Amino acid sequence: MSQIKHVAIIMDGNGRWAQLRGRPRTFGHVKGVRVAKKIITHAANLGLQNLTLYAFSTENWFRPQEEVSVLMKLMERYLVRETENLIKNNIQFHTIGDLSKVPTNVRRLINEAKVRTAHCSGLKLTFAISYGSRQEMIGAVQSIATDLKDGVISLNEINEDMINKRLMTSHCPDPDLIIRTSGEYRLSNFLMWQASYSELYFTNILWPDFKEDDLNKALTDFKNRSRRFGRIEGVLKTLFNKKEKNHAELNF
Ligand code: IPE
Ligand code: IPE
Ligand code: MG
Repeated sequence: MSQIKHVAIIMDGNGRWAQLRGRPRTFGHVKGVRVAKKIITHAANLGLQNLTLYAFSTENWFRPQEEVSVLMKLMERYLVRETENLIKNNIQFHTIGDLSKVPTNVRRLINEAKVRTAHCSGLKLTFAISYGSRQEMIGAVQSIATDLKDGVISLNEINEDMINKRLMTSHCPDPDLIIRTSGEYRLSNFLMWQASYSELYFTNILWPDFKEDDLNKALTDFKNRSRRFGRIEGVLKTLFNKKEKNHAELNF
């Protein structure tokens, strides 16, 4: 696990999983939480440093009220039941997203979990709740614009580092790997700035069917990726230099 520091997962497909079984969508969400718990424990056992789980997007607020309220209840139940386990497993709890929209009791439990796990030094677990990448970027722009207007910073001080620090993810590095389940091939407003050089992994498995071994598979796949960050790899570089020489000979 040396080079992979941060895995982020778009846990998608709960509704379809339930519908395939002739059950209400919320049944899929209940199973989805169980799977999330298992994957969190597995990630902690693997020694992963950062795991971010997309649990609820800004746009998910537009789902039917009953579904939204079940999702909030599940979050509440998760926190009530799991905060103690997070501490036991040395997991530090974080969130990204606009919590002002989240019911007060859920917000209180979230803050409590953050305080109670603050000393934990193992896995950093981040739940994206009421999260949207565009909204996050607006927040960063507003904060920079305010400081600029107040003369706290100057225009030429604005750089990537400053933006990184004003995003909600300032506590963790960019994700190395983003996994999306359920056969959808999009980011759906998730970590769009931070995903600039993330490796993307898509699987048709619906989130409630996702197993520890599926995470292992994604991690193995990641290991075989060649991350170039716009540069040229050692081997390719040698080949390219040879070609360049040929090109020079050909007067290219
Ligand atoms: C992901 O599953 C969970 C949330 C978005 C909260 P979905 O609820 O999106 O399930 P599908 O995509 O409709 O099957
Ligand atoms: C993305 O899934 C959000 C979460 C997994 C929490 P959605 O199901 O909301 O995304 P779309 O609507 O298919 O893009
Ligand atoms: Mg979905």
